[in-house]
Amino acid sequence: MKHFINLRDIPSKDLRKIIADAKKRKKLREKLSTLEVDKGAPLKGKMLVQMFEKPSSRTRISFYLAIKQLGGSALTLRSNELHLGQGGESIADTAKILSTYGDGFMFRTDSDKKVNDFKKYLNIPIINGLSPSSHPTQVLSDVFTVEEIKKKPISKLKICWIGDSNNVLDSLIEASVKFSFRLNIGCPKKFEPKKKIRDWVKKNNKKIFLYNNPEKAVEEADVIFSDKVISMNDKVDKKRKIKQFKKFKIKKELMGHAKKNCIFLHCLPRGNEVEDDVFLGENSYVWQQALNRVHVQKSILLYCFGKLR
Ligand code: CP
Ligand code: NVA
Repeated sequence: MKHFINLRDIPSKDLRKIIADAKKRKKLREKLSTLEVDKGAPLKGKMLVQMFEKPSSRTRISFYLAIKQLGGSALTLRSNELHLGQGGESIADTAKILSTYGDGFMFRTDSDKKVNDFKKYLNIPIINGLSPSSHPTQVLSDVFTVEEIKKKPISKLKICWIGDSNNVLDSLIEASVKFSFRLNIGCPKKFEPKKKIRDWVKKNNKKIFLYNNPEKAVEEADVIFSDKVISMNDKVDKKRKIKQFKKFKIKKELMGHAKKNCIFLHCLPRGNEVEDDVFLGENSYVWQQALNRVHVQKSILLYCFGKLR
């Protein structure tokens, strides 16, 4: 049984295997409609329970499609609909019940501890669908998208992140170590990645490159990633933070400092960190990026269920 909680815990060769499988499966689906099942229905009879403590559009729909296309089924819950969420049942007992009825558990939460507690008590795989320090399914899918568009291994590309230090960036940093790519991070000094993740990078003898000047950060970039400056449940003075990020707003002018064919990616939902003419411009691939989550998450599910070819 394999869990999918943080990219840092998964061997690079397994991450590569997931991407390779997703590539094959995506190709094979070219002529199939949304709910047609992949040949062989590899997850026939399996049920994924997905539970959300926070809002989600893409993650919930893409996981639903992913398990359906593999021949299985999904049950989507809000934790406040369960005794757990009302304070009337423990994680340990809830995990036992989930393991009794379901075959896999995808969980979006505001607590990394809860993910680990569930892992402790579950007898089925757990997939992290976003926690305070990790959004691994998003970022693995983003690596897939970058390689699909650029037609090159990501290790040969210069990747830039403009924005806050958050769960998506932490997973992107982990990906930069696992896939060996150059990662420039552009943000105000106060919002640089935390010591814990920087120490982990160092421990792995790798480097990330920090810039407090957005033009310098994007120089020669092949890909610019961004995310909302204010994450869900970010408990800050929102107006103040947005002001602090003002010069990091992604405009055409800033894109002009990167490579000519630099692409723009964003996990969505978006805030005001990027202007429409970039987000909806010809170098933006955000919709393809969102769609690819279905394809990559299918291979993540197969990995967790021990069925990756
Ligand atoms: N990118 C992403 O995870 O989107 P949702 O919050 O809509 O799931
Ligand atoms: N960093 C964002 C990602 C949303 C998909 C958040 O946590 O809200």
